[in-house]
Amino acid sequence: MTFSNGKLDGKVAFVTGGSRGIGAAIARRLANEGAAVAITYFSSKEDAESVIADLGTRGLAIRADSADAHAVKAAVATTARRFGRLDILVNNAAMFRIGLIDDFSLEHIDQMLAINVKSLFAAIQESLRFMEKGGRIINIGSVSSDYMPIPGVSVYAATKGAVASMTRALARDLGSRDITINNVQPGRIDTAMNPADGPMADRIRSSIALGRYGSGDDVAGLVAWLASPEAAFITGTNLKVDGGTSA
Ligand SMILES: NC(=O)c1ccc[n+]([C@@H]2O[C@H](COP(=O)([O-])OP(=O)(O)OC[C@H]3O[C@@H](n4cnc5c(N)ncnc54)[C@H](OP(=O)(O)O)[C@@H]3O)[C@@H](O)[C@H]2O)c1
Repeated sequence: MTFSNGKLDGKVAFVTGGSRGIGAAIARRLANEGAAVAITYFSSKEDAESVIADLGTRGLAIRADSADAHAVKAAVATTARRFGRLDILVNNAAMFRIGLIDDFSLEHIDQMLAINVKSLFAAIQESLRFMEKGGRIINIGSVSSDYMPIPGVSVYAATKGAVASMTRALARDLGSRDITINNVQPGRIDTAMNPADGPMADRIRSSIALGRYGSGDDVAGLVAWLASPEAAFITGTNLKVDGGTSA
């Protein structure tokens, strides 16, 4: 990868779940804009290493299970120590489990809340120990928090609703520090979580105004812009990248 003299020169970013899909696209895009980037992964070690190989000495892969908020906090601190600062946090890792109400045990609910909500909060809390004025927090929520055309997504939608409301509320906590926090809400993005050739793909595609799935790069572009100086006055917002799915 060639590095630009981009909008994020000298910045340090931490991206949870950067080994595959949207998180990998975000890591590459932030690096391409000039940032040093640390990613976390859980099971995809080889994929994580291949993302980091693209980033050269300005990349770091850390195994940290987002089900364990302490591990996520430790990964944030490791990143700040390794690169000497922390400017951008992207909370991307999440668990998606589909099922009707009787398909969910209480343990399933705990697990999704731990990964999708608790660790996201923990990463924010830990990042604030290192972030200075101008810091950027970007959560990856989902259009599912306020648009749901199919059954079986209640718990996931609830976790993403929590991300949306937490983002709005934390904007009030962080404003006095001049740190922004925003929630990017992807629609249908072609990844392992939601493959464009999956069994539901044709039905899903017909619900998208643009008639096609988005890509990780579609989401990464908005994330990079929110991380840049151009977005300094944007905070507490929920921004959809959904090809008109919720239009
Ligand atoms: N794809 C969509 O249509 C869509 C739509 C709306 C919102 N989103 C959101 O976008 C984000 C990324 O989704 P995606 O589609 O890129 O998913 P994906 O292709 O399944 O990738 C998920 C990433 O998160 C990591 N991850 C999962 N569980 C983890 C855990 N317990 N600890 C650490 N890392 C973990 C995975 O790493 P390992 O493989 O190493 O475990 C992987 O890097 C999620 O927040 C998702 O809810 C996606």
